[in-house]
Amino acid sequence: MTLKDKRILLIISGGIAAYKSLDLIRRLRERGASVRPVMTKGAEEFVTPLAVGALSGGKVFTELFSREEEQDVGHIRLARECDLILVAPATADLMAKMANGLANDLASAVLLAADRPVLVAPAMNPKMWANRATERNVETLKGDGIRFIGPMKGEMAESGEAGLGRMAEPLEIVAAVEALLDGLPKPLAGRTAIVTSGPTHEPIDPVRYIANRSSGRQGHAIAAALAALGAEVTLVSGPVTIPDPAGVTTQHVETAREMLEAVEAALPADIAVMVAAVADWRVAASADEKIKKKPGDAPPALQLTENPDILKTVGHHARRPAVVIGFAAETQDVETNGRAKLERKGADFIVANDVSPETGIMGGTRNSVKIISAGGVDAWPDLSKEDVAARLAAMIADRLS
Ligand code: CTP
Repeated sequence: MTLKDKRILLIISGGIAAYKSLDLIRRLRERGASVRPVMTKGAEEFVTPLAVGALSGGKVFTELFSREEEQDVGHIRLARECDLILVAPATADLMAKMANGLANDLASAVLLAADRPVLVAPAMNPKMWANRATERNVETLKGDGIRFIGPMKGEMAESGEAGLGRMAEPLEIVAAVEALLDGLPKPLAGRTAIVTSGPTHEPIDPVRYIANRSSGRQGHAIAAALAALGAEVTLVSGPVTIPDPAGVTTQHVETAREMLEAVEAALPADIAVMVAAVADWRVAASADEKIKKKPGDAPPALQLTENPDILKTVGHHARRPAVVIGFAAETQDVETNGRAKLERKGADFIVANDVSPETGIMGGTRNSVKIISAGGVDAWPDLSKEDVAARLAAMIADRLS
């Protein structure tokens, strides 16, 4: 999938070509991208937020002056939490606003706050496109680094007039998105990262072990997301059933002590993300032979001893990475416990999640996390583990830049 894990913010403005944006959403998602739609009032005259939301599989953003929407995500986050902003269709009016820095609705405010690449697919009547005012705006926008796809020659949907003004077809727009994202510098190029993932297995005897329910999905997704941004990633994984991510060096270990050894061997690194559900304890003296049950004997008592804390070791290491991130799997007081962990383990961020059985997070495919740092707490919405990974990778890149 060519756009795997890419986050596209799609701004739909009010032209008849908006009907093509529905297909565009499908095409982008087919290629692995996630699409967050923003619609102008004009766009809502042509396609419904219901249709756009159904195809994008998430919330559609329409309001700037809504307390609920601003508190939920807000225009600044909309502008930042993406890899690319795509305006399709872009009306003459929205382009005029962009060229002049107007920000009186959500779409224009997002565009003014944007620090990501912006690709515009204009659609308008050929006379409007040829108007000197539009030409001036397009020149200004190009000078500001805004990229264009189209408009194309063809017949206008509403008037039958022919000329330059038709919006590029969805697949042409997708190709332009891919070309633009491929050509972008990767923000983590030249950086190294260590990620731990999965559970550890602590032997009781040669056939039995202590384990936990971690699937490794979140840690593996983070390793892949860091690699996608150009980092050279060493993934130290406990025993899992999912495949090694592509583009990452994966080392397989069983126990916490082996995991620590592999992590220390991979230092120095710029980034450490410790996602593994490391067993806190191991059996003090695991048996070399299988423990046999003998008639009349009491069940064996397992004497446990503490495992090394890998995150804490890395967080206080002489070669501590510039960014150290830990996870906090909690079933109660998620924030308080997360904050305490931040301090104790020497991390820059703790990704805290509630793993109570009813959340289905442990072993599941979705995650709902709070990012705890010295600066405060940021609660992310319910996301797929891949989306959590992509956001985390982008956050790390921001922190290092
Ligand atoms: N961790 C680690 N080594 C350990 C235990 C935990 O590296 N021996 C890391 C995990 O990878 C995770 C973080 O520490 O990033 C938090 O782990 P968690 O088990 O939730 O916290 P604990 O410190 O074990 O605290 P508690 O068991 O009291 O929740």
